[in-house]
Amino acid sequence: MSTDPTGPADVRPRRGEPLPANLWDDAERLPREEVRDLQLRRLRRTLRHAYDNVELYREKFDRAGVTPDDCRTPEDLARFPFTTKADLRETYPFGMFAVPLSEVRRIHASSGTTGRPTVVGYTERDLSTWADLVARSLRAAGGRPGHKVHISYGYGLFTGGLGAHYGAERAGCTVIPASGGMTARQVQIIQDFRPEIIMVTPSYMLTLLDEFEKQGVDPRSTSLEVGMFGAEPWTEEMRHEIEERMDLHAVDIYGLSEVMGPGVAQECVDTKDGLHVWEDHFLPEIVDPFTDDVLADGESGELVFTSLTKEALPVIRYRTRDLTRLLPGTARAGFRRIEKITGRCDDMIILRGVNVFPTQIEEVVLRTPGVAPHFQIDLSRRGRMDHMTVRVEARPDAAPEQRESAAGAIAQGVKDGVGISVEVAVVDPETLERSLGKLRRVRDRRGA
Ligand code: DLL
Repeated sequence: MSTDPTGPADVRPRRGEPLPANLWDDAERLPREEVRDLQLRRLRRTLRHAYDNVELYREKFDRAGVTPDDCRTPEDLARFPFTTKADLRETYPFGMFAVPLSEVRRIHASSGTTGRPTVVGYTERDLSTWADLVARSLRAAGGRPGHKVHISYGYGLFTGGLGAHYGAERAGCTVIPASGGMTARQVQIIQDFRPEIIMVTPSYMLTLLDEFEKQGVDPRSTSLEVGMFGAEPWTEEMRHEIEERMDLHAVDIYGLSEVMGPGVAQECVDTKDGLHVWEDHFLPEIVDPFTDDVLADGESGELVFTSLTKEALPVIRYRTRDLTRLLPGTARAGFRRIEKITGRCDDMIILRGVNVFPTQIEEVVLRTPGVAPHFQIDLSRRGRMDHMTVRVEARPDAAPEQRESAAGAIAQGVKDGVGISVEVAVVDPETLERSLGKLRRVRDRRGA
């Protein structure tokens, strides 16, 4: 892939080259045992900070009969109560802040499609830690000082845009703060400014990809070398689709506002084998979403986070609703990895008694020739039965016979892989709604 001759060639690696260990943060070099010691020290301090400064934590700990001093080993954390989104809603807007408002430098909030939004706050030091961790994530993804980073995550109350922005600046990159929307202009800017890195939701990347093609630009010819995709679930099949069509490295970035924002965990470009959790700042657990029991590493369940350094909004055992499992570290041996997120507990569709995640449908659709990676899941009732229709766009060059065989192949693939019968409608190109940020895949009209 072409590189900009005016860039600082000495720091610019070739695409996909791993970051030399001498450029890692000190914490990235710590052996596992030292990470655990550091976590315990920080955990005890965080529990004390939360208990002393947030009424809700004090009440919850008291009710559970635990005090911060009861945490002597990392395993003791299991005795402490969970925190949920409902706790943040109940204390809306600032009731869970652990510092005076005058020390809060920034506020973000979730969109709050149902009920009140969740509000999160950051002290100056929190913002600095966040920038450090996004910078670390960028380097793990293959970013270097001097790279230009095009940010298409939305700017505003959403943590994506500003979180990525300050991290990329901290990494010594040149930031292009495009935000979401105005797709045609984004494509123009990418051609003119020649960024090496793009940070965007995978679904909006597809929207941009189509726009490149519409403008007659070969997406493989752009300057982009790495895409950092997150904020929504996506599959290995989607990675393959984007990497093939764009000739770049597609890596996963994870985070959530309540815990910080983007940069809680990051996939390393040299291994592409799941996301290393930045465990010097966040302690992950996996619990059974139904029994609440803590599960062993390797077992699948709901991801739970305790922050270890946050000042404004410490979170203790926060239930993310995201489903994954913990695996040992590889490219950063001191930190465990999470496997690519399959979906959220809330996104799980129960269709005639079978649990289905939209990502399982994505896997089948993206494996099928003749159809585009744009699809939508409609749920309805036929009599007393739940009914799923997968509406998927044909590729522009697909012949009518190919459309028909694609519909059959998807229905069969879902039947074989997931165990449910679905109706598949292959629709004309460019007829389904496009993503401008986080994509809404499922339309549930069963209650209507
Ligand atoms: O989406 C933060 C973020 C911005 C992450 C940009 C990565 C990139 P929230 O709006 O609070 O924050 O949404 C958090 O999004 O609990 C997951 O369900 C989902 N999510 C985030 N990253 C990933 C990912 C941001 N890499 C919620 N894979 C989380 C799957 C993800 N799901």
